[in-house]
Amino acid sequence: MFIPQEFIKKKRDNKPLNKSEIDDFIRGVSDGSVANEHISAFAMAVFFNGMSLDEKTNLTLAMKNSGNTLSWDLDGPIVDKHSTGGIGDVVSLMLGSMLAACGLYIPMISGRGLGHTGGTLDKLESIPGYNVFPDDKLFKKIVKECGVAIIGQTSSLAPADKRIYSIRDVTATVESVPMISASILSKKLAEGLDVLVMDVKVGSGAFMPTYELSVELAKSIVEISNNAGVKTEAILTDMNQCLAYSAGNAIEIKEAVDYLTCKRINPRLHNVNMALCVSALLNSGVVNDEDKARDKLEYVLKSGEALEVFAKMVSMLGGPNDFCENYDKYLPKANIIRPIFSDDYGVVESMNAVSLGMSVVGLGGGRIKPEDKIDHSVGLENIINLGSKVEKDTPIAIIHAKDEDSFMMAKQRVLNAISIGSKKPNIKEVYEIIKS
Ligand code: URA
Repeated sequence: MFIPQEFIKKKRDNKPLNKSEIDDFIRGVSDGSVANEHISAFAMAVFFNGMSLDEKTNLTLAMKNSGNTLSWDLDGPIVDKHSTGGIGDVVSLMLGSMLAACGLYIPMISGRGLGHTGGTLDKLESIPGYNVFPDDKLFKKIVKECGVAIIGQTSSLAPADKRIYSIRDVTATVESVPMISASILSKKLAEGLDVLVMDVKVGSGAFMPTYELSVELAKSIVEISNNAGVKTEAILTDMNQCLAYSAGNAIEIKEAVDYLTCKRINPRLHNVNMALCVSALLNSGVVNDEDKARDKLEYVLKSGEALEVFAKMVSMLGGPNDFCENYDKYLPKANIIRPIFSDDYGVVESMNAVSLGMSVVGLGGGRIKPEDKIDHSVGLENIINLGSKVEKDTPIAIIHAKDEDSFMMAKQRVLNAISIGSKKPNIKEVYEIIKS
């Protein structure tokens, strides 16, 4: 019989945990026979003592198997991307459409905004009619016919993670690389993937507080996922500033469509998107060298094939059939849309990307409490880049706000988040690729 305290004691004393013990523990998490106290003590023991690769893999797989898992019978590789989260990180929409246009299948299960970071689901819900929770049959049909469907996580996906995460959240055990790796991968691997590419952010707006910890997380995820049979790479990308021109829900959707129509492509966003897409194409074996991967991706973007995929996905999930041509007619608009200026002149030396993200939350574009309703219309547009020159009439950003009070609050937050001086900062988008 499984005795949780014996299991916890083993981890506390740094003794190896075997697969059947880990399976028993997660079974107990799912059926309620393991108590909250057991979960919190176990998480703390892992926090201090870490886990071996075998332990992490067994924990990930047990958590994945605690709920429904998807299986596919399609004529191409099943691929996804996961990001540790950021500001203006609208990559999923372009990446999903571009990879699908290259013949890959992307069943992307995305999340909502968390803290200062935006969430793909919240962004997609700016589109009237878009159903982020289709039933399994429709989800599978859209993946098959479009190549990509971006939807939300239901309670049947890795439910053990949901329970464990909610306890880690209130017991100071979120910041454990083995627990974060198992949590992220249990949900991603439940999608039945052949290939995964991880975007691990580094910088002032990143989930992990230092470059070294981002590398540790990236290595841990790559090792576990490959050990579990999914070809996985992680790319360390920059989150010292907003990734796109904009941050907010409807505003980012507009930017994604402008990217796919090639009307306006932010080079920073493009570099990160391309690096992730190239990794997915190479690892899924569709092409065998980077130049060919880049050519294929540029082709599907410029020819409009990726745009067509996105438009079809939106329509099949209940959005307007002419959304991409007429997004201005459909996306909600804020009452106030006005630029802000700084009293300081010089060069943008640094940004506090967390504060920038929190200014969007303060405008109503994110949540303070999980049950909060969000305002899809608000946010920041044309946010100034690191290294840009600021003169008297250089706009720092355009704020979209519902009223004067929230406009003034966001203005203060954005101006405080941006340091203007004389030193041009080093700017990079892609730092390193972690391979297995
Ligand atoms: N995101 C997750 O899904 N899980 C974690 O533990 C941390 C971030």
